[in-house]
Amino acid sequence: MGRQLLVLGGGGREHALTSALARSPSVSVVHTAPGNPGTARLGPTHAIDATDPDAVTALARELAVDLVVVGPEAPLVAGVVDALERVGIAAFGPTAAAARIEGSKAFAKEIMEAAGAPTGGSVATSDRSEALAALERFGAPYVVKADGLAAGKGVRICTELAEASDAVDDALLRGVFGSAGSRIVVEEYLAGPERSVFGVCDGTEVVLLEPAQDYKRALDGDEGLNTGGMGAYTPVPGFSLGDVDHLADLVFRPVLEELADRGTPYRGLLYAGLVDTEAGPKLLEFNARFGDPETQAILPRIDSDLAELLWAAATGSVAEQQVAWRDDAAVTVVLASGGYPGSYPTGVPIHGIDELAGLDDVEVFHAGTRLDDGQLVTAGGRVLAVTALGGEVADARRRAYAAADRITFEGLHRRSDIASGV
Ligand SMILES: Nc1ncnc2c1ncn2[C@@H]1O[C@H](COP(=O)(O)OP(=O)(O)O)[C@@H](O)[C@H]1O
Ligand SMILES: [Mg+2]
Repeated sequence: MGRQLLVLGGGGREHALTSALARSPSVSVVHTAPGNPGTARLGPTHAIDATDPDAVTALARELAVDLVVVGPEAPLVAGVVDALERVGIAAFGPTAAAARIEGSKAFAKEIMEAAGAPTGGSVATSDRSEALAALERFGAPYVVKADGLAAGKGVRICTELAEASDAVDDALLRGVFGSAGSRIVVEEYLAGPERSVFGVCDGTEVVLLEPAQDYKRALDGDEGLNTGGMGAYTPVPGFSLGDVDHLADLVFRPVLEELADRGTPYRGLLYAGLVDTEAGPKLLEFNARFGDPETQAILPRIDSDLAELLWAAATGSVAEQQVAWRDDAAVTVVLASGGYPGSYPTGVPIHGIDELAGLDDVEVFHAGTRLDDGQLVTAGGRVLAVTALGGEVADARRRAYAAADRITFEGLHRRSDIASGV
């Protein structure tokens, strides 16, 4: 009998996790809560509030699952992993205290500095005049951040001092971000290309995953508004696993040691956001979960047992794990609702997905969909993520767009330049 798993969350990242876990040889069943119409094809779904620690532990006990895998940050911050620990159920994901590395930018900077991990200078403060002094000291471009979670809207990069001091006042005086902005972080600006690296952590040790490049802007040529992510590809030339190996010692292990020393060991996925500056890589931020849509590109390339790896992380033996990677490249194209990231309609019928079911090495991950009387309809800004594998990035790209072209819904918007020119 294989392991029984429960994946928390219901987006494209969780569908990709569920798919990779369902094909892991060590697994017998993958439940999802709440899941979505895509995960429902891979295992049972359960309509509970995944951010409610009592509801999650009750479900995990009832199903007698061996491991709970937490997708999004909200259940982590709500203490779901702490509650599971208390009842003796293994979980892949950090406790609320360790997840503060994402939830508080001041805490993240404090940990980076204490660990001696490379990052830019910063000042965390609730005092307006201290903030203004820091702005003057660091100079332009000015970086002002709300300390807490602000739905991706808490960061302002300004070229003018007046604009930056207005950003300070928005947070500290006008309370634009509520309690998330009652403290702010003023940072040194880091110039260079942005990269992210994912580490599977067990409290002391880490296994790095193949990096992917994502696309944050809504429109081709990196124009338009910031989004949750419009596509991704992997491997990234010049930024493969061999190129980031040194970050395990430079960034991950010191940070894990620092968190463990404070009595809050980090188990789960640690996402390091970095800038490749002229002086080498410097940390921008941490996230406490897999990136979306990078996960939809990375996981289909894993050839070994993902469930074994996540189990090892949850139980403290990740150092013994070897991840096998397919040589193929992967490209993910996100299909979004018209208007996203602004307002958009929902309930729009989706056509053409079923015809893709038979294609080898093509997966359609559900991000924002629901079933309406048996008809699949849109239910979010990012609706689907289409991933294809291929020998080279260009092959995977051709196959991903050929598959994406067969899916239609009114108002569908996607970028046409994901992985182009790679
Ligand atoms: N110190 C910095 N130097 C340069 N760019 C920055 C800096 N801090 C943030 N940014 C830019 O702002 C974006 C969002 O900042 P980040 O700290 O990742 O916050 P969040 O993802 O929580 O909104 C980054 O991806 C980067 O483009
Ligand atoms: Mg970020």
